[in-house]
Amino acid sequence: MPSKLPKLVMIFIFFTTSANAWRPWANQMFEGSKRFEGSSELVDMKYHMGPVLTDENITIYPIWYGKWGKSQKMIIRDFINSISAVNNKAPSVSGWWKTVQLYTDQTGANISRNVFLGHDKNDRFYSQGKSLTRLTVQKVIKNAVNSRSKPLPINPKTGVYLLLTSDDVYVQDFCQGACGFHYFTFPSIVGYTLPYAWIGNSAKLCPGVCAYPFAVPNFMPKLRSVKSPNDDVGVDGMISVIAHELAEVATNPLDNAWFAGSDPVFPVEIADLCEGIYGTGGGGSYTGQMLNGVDGATYNMHGIRRRFLVQWVWNHMVNYCTGPNALDQ
Ligand SMILES: *[C@@H]1O[C@H](CO)[C@@H](O)[C@H](O)[C@H]1NC(C)=O
Ligand SMILES: *[C@@H]1O[C@H](CO)[C@@H](O)[C@H](O)[C@H]1NC(C)=O
Repeated sequence: MPSKLPKLVMIFIFFTTSANAWRPWANQMFEGSKRFEGSSELVDMKYHMGPVLTDENITIYPIWYGKWGKSQKMIIRDFINSISAVNNKAPSVSGWWKTVQLYTDQTGANISRNVFLGHDKNDRFYSQGKSLTRLTVQKVIKNAVNSRSKPLPINPKTGVYLLLTSDDVYVQDFCQGACGFHYFTFPSIVGYTLPYAWIGNSAKLCPGVCAYPFAVPNFMPKLRSVKSPNDDVGVDGMISVIAHELAEVATNPLDNAWFAGSDPVFPVEIADLCEGIYGTGGGGSYTGQMLNGVDGATYNMHGIRRRFLVQWVWNHMVNYCTGPNALDQ
């Protein structure tokens, strides 16, 4: 369960309420003895015996809520398709996913290598309005799997339902505590227990918060934003949050598998620990080394047709955050 809050708020939240973390400031509390890509002996990433997504394939079902442009959908689809693509230039999105694949269940089965795009669904007319709560989010998913025309498949074992809200939609805690979150649906609302994630387009509401570093927060006037790789600040900012949530859904789909801390109500998951880290040396308020294209865009990995900027994830084998360079080959 992620999110993003400024440093001071963050430290408070981290220890009191949860997994909430914010991009550039998230790892500040670990900058004690040895600060290296978030490394810390204090982090106790543990397996709590629950299921993780280890089947041959993981299927992602996007639900496009509100107004979405074709080119916006294309950026997100390309990113998801890049996760198991084989021929992309390194550092690649598939190289990044290899850190996630290091996690296993109790039988020793690894997280799936294959992440595929399944059917998707449009909710163009804001079926639950323009302000969603954690409960109405589940109603959106319910509609998508119960729809009379082309419902999404019910796939509790290997499916991940990805609710993507357009830039005119507010979701509970958006901008104040979260840029996205993942959880599972309740049978009493949806009829099934389905792992899902929500990610919002922050372009209008809080790009400085949820699309950092493509936009910077107003309260930090000294920070400069960087150019986004696909010319869409909101969607380029969503990519890293989508990656964050998918890494966590895969390793902790029912909130009883991989997380640090002792409280499953506020788990600190594998992406929470690396928020704001995009490259070597990252930690504290430093993003780490990123790449710059000839067009001036900032990114850190290649995917199908495009480049992306994606945060790193916690590697429990070495106890620090790793990115595509570590295992890409
Ligand atoms: C996984 O996906 C591949 C490629 O689409 C397919 O051939 C295979 O049958 C799938 N495996 C399962 C268990 O569904
Ligand atoms: C599976 O996980 C183990 C660690 O538990 C790791 O050593 C191995 O490299 C992983 N396999 C893949 C394909 O990532």
